[in-house]
Amino acid sequence: MAKQEPAMPRSRHDLLTLSLHWLTALLVPLAYLAIQVTEMLPRGALKTQVYTAHQTLGVLVLAVTLVRLAWRPFAPKPGPAEMPGAMRQASTAVHVLLFLGLLAVPLLGMLTQWLRGRGVEMFGLFALAPPFAADRPMARSMKEAHELLANALMLLALLHAMAALFHHYVMRDGLIRRMLPGRDPGAA
Ligand code: HEM
Ligand code: HEM
Repeated sequence: MAKQEPAMPRSRHDLLTLSLHWLTALLVPLAYLAIQVTEMLPRGALKTQVYTAHQTLGVLVLAVTLVRLAWRPFAPKPGPAEMPGAMRQASTAVHVLLFLGLLAVPLLGMLTQWLRGRGVEMFGLFALAPPFAADRPMARSMKEAHELLANALMLLALLHAMAALFHHYVMRDGLIRRMLPGRDPGAA
């Protein structure tokens, strides 16, 4: 009888996880950039378009995050990354906070628009209409929370990216490859 090879753990995340990760890493800074540009532009058609782009990019972040979280329990996992226990705990905590931010920031943005009595503009093609009545003071609070958490999310993402680069250039432990495409003898 043929001898069974011992199973080798995967060394990378699967292609779907990988694609959704890098899509998020592209969409979040773009959404952030779009609102900064919106603020700088004078009133007019271009300002409205860039503002619409901000909302569209933000809703896409939410959609991608929901797909990612739904896929996560089924995703074939790579073996645990080799690092000291405290570092692993810090990394897990940052990942959880990133996921919370990826959900909360777009949701608070949508709530802001809806509480202002406006729709959430998608691609300039259609709007997600407000499901409840406008409430201006509440909209102002949601906007404050949206802005605060958006800035926190950007800082956390920066910290996360710097940690990944630290692993790559200083610790030289190959951790970044877990989120990059390539050969994986552990993948079935
Ligand atoms: C807006 C930007 C980013 C966001 C929101 C983000 C978010 C996340 C999240 C939530 C995870 C956890 C995945 C999971 O447990 O399923 C993760 C993993 C990871 N990210 Fe990012 N990321 C961003 C940018 C980056 C950048 C720029 C790099 C590289 C320089 C990077 C490298 C990694 C790596 C290597 C992992 C896998 C860690 C592991 O498997 O232990 N990320 N990212
Ligand atoms: C990851 C996604 C998002 C990020 C990073 C983000 C970031 C930001 C930031 C930093 C601001 C504050 C700008 C400033 O006043 O300096 C802002 C404002 C705003 N965002 Fe977002 N946002 C996101 C998603 C969304 C979504 C999905 C909507 C949905 C409608 C939205 C709607 C708004 C609104 C209404 C404002 C207030 C603009 C104003 O002053 O009138 N955002 N966003």
